[in-house]
Amino acid sequence: MAQLILGPLQRYAGADEATVWVETDGPCDVEVLGCRERTFHVEGHHYALVHVTGLEPASTTPYEVRLDGERVWPEPESPYPPSVFRTYGDDAPFRIAWGSCRVSAPHSQPFSLRKDQHPEGREVDALRVLADRMCGEDPADWPHALVMLGDQVYADEVSPGVAEYIHAHRDVEVPPGETVANFEEYTRLYREAWSEPHIRWLLSTVPSAMIFDDHDVHDDWNTSKTWVDDMRATGWWDDRIVGGFATYWLYQHMGNLSPGHLADDELYAELRAADDGGPILREFAFRADREVAGTRWSYCRDFGRARLLMIDSRAGRVLDPPEERSMLDPHEWRWLEEHAAGDFDHLLIGTSLPFLLAPGLHYLESWNEAVCNGAWGKPASLLGEKVRQGADLEHWSAFGSSLDRIMELVRDVGTGRKGPPPATIVALSGDVHHAYLAEVGFPNGTGMRSAAYQATCSPFRNPLDDRERRMIRFACSRGGTLVGKLLARAAGVGDPPVRWRFAHDAPFFDNQVCFIEVDGRRARLWLQKTAPEENEGFSLETVFERLLAS
Ligand SMILES: [Fe+2]
Repeated sequence: MAQLILGPLQRYAGADEATVWVETDGPCDVEVLGCRERTFHVEGHHYALVHVTGLEPASTTPYEVRLDGERVWPEPESPYPPSVFRTYGDDAPFRIAWGSCRVSAPHSQPFSLRKDQHPEGREVDALRVLADRMCGEDPADWPHALVMLGDQVYADEVSPGVAEYIHAHRDVEVPPGETVANFEEYTRLYREAWSEPHIRWLLSTVPSAMIFDDHDVHDDWNTSKTWVDDMRATGWWDDRIVGGFATYWLYQHMGNLSPGHLADDELYAELRAADDGGPILREFAFRADREVAGTRWSYCRDFGRARLLMIDSRAGRVLDPPEERSMLDPHEWRWLEEHAAGDFDHLLIGTSLPFLLAPGLHYLESWNEAVCNGAWGKPASLLGEKVRQGADLEHWSAFGSSLDRIMELVRDVGTGRKGPPPATIVALSGDVHHAYLAEVGFPNGTGMRSAAYQATCSPFRNPLDDRERRMIRFACSRGGTLVGKLLARAAGVGDPPVRWRFAHDAPFFDNQVCFIEVDGRRARLWLQKTAPEENEGFSLETVFERLLAS
């Protein structure tokens, strides 16, 4: 009899339908609430995404998963509440939990220590603490969706379990060493990331929307043309990127899509029809690395009157020629501009990389881009590239023309050029291992009618050490801003397209999760971080709260 290897993950949830993702150890029929799907096969792995239909809007419905008629979920004697579908109703509040950057490691020493106490210390996973709290809560208080904004898995910082697997299967003296090398190792990485019991239950009961960031593939992924050329010249990059894209498609992307999109997705149809979809998926994955246009990872979800646009700001970058760098390729820009138009109360833009950084960092990145592009001559540009890669200067600020363009889009939405202005336009981002809310100001006379924000929350589990925190604090300070500004000016960089200011004094560190709740035209945001309790437990403590629109 087939066994459940991973999942169920509840992925899409609409007003009357949902999708449930599973990986099994053999071919079987997967059944959820009477809806059935046959698994498809990729290189010894078996997957299914069950489309559950006929749910009541604004309802809560417990579900079970059956493989060939045998119940495999909930597990026997499960200590967790039943997994449920919670469909939304148009006029009910909708609550999203969100954040990014989650390494997998046991919750035991040294991994549970602070990074300053031990280099492998990562403290406690904020999502695990959230799941623990939810177990004792009324489901009415649970988030309706979980938005995961990148670094869902760390291919270059593997857990002890995956490291053990790697050591048993190949020589780690040969690159890429103790990092993930291929498809099979990636499947282990995902299994480890999502099978911790609390996380597994959380993902079974809260629908999730995901987008990748660099560590899902490799630190600094697609930072510049030089970086890409260097990686392709190694002997191991092709296997890594093919494994990375293939598993991203299977474990993250397929479930991001709505049932309507899946019905039109050619790759999904081909994989379901193949005896072994491995060759098809490998070819697709290789092409996705070599051709920027043609693959779109960005997608859109509507939660009642709120629209979430999830933008890929890693895979689809245009890096060649370096002077025409762009975060998105022309097709993706067009897609984004089309989907930002419409009539909704809130526009949430999910992007792993913040549009707007701590001011000092913003100027540093825009200075670096100018220097890399030759503002200070050829020798300085070579040095600039080293600084870019060494200091991770790779956000929207390092793609100046893309930042201008995305801010023009925010302005067009907020002034009503794309439909009735929503109450809020909020960028949800991660990656930077600190959290903040910034209010965005457009020049006087722009006519903005929406309130615009940059909200950033990172990490779920991967906190900075004290030295790194000091650097971020400096980048947020007046002194850091001034130094960055002077550098940028010296390289001929002009003012940024908008002004922004933190809605609190200092950025927030530690493992944390952020929430946003929309209710009609109203929106509220609050940030919770993990805090130790007596008897070695942890809770989530609210450290910041703000009404975004009333
Ligand atoms: Fe990242």
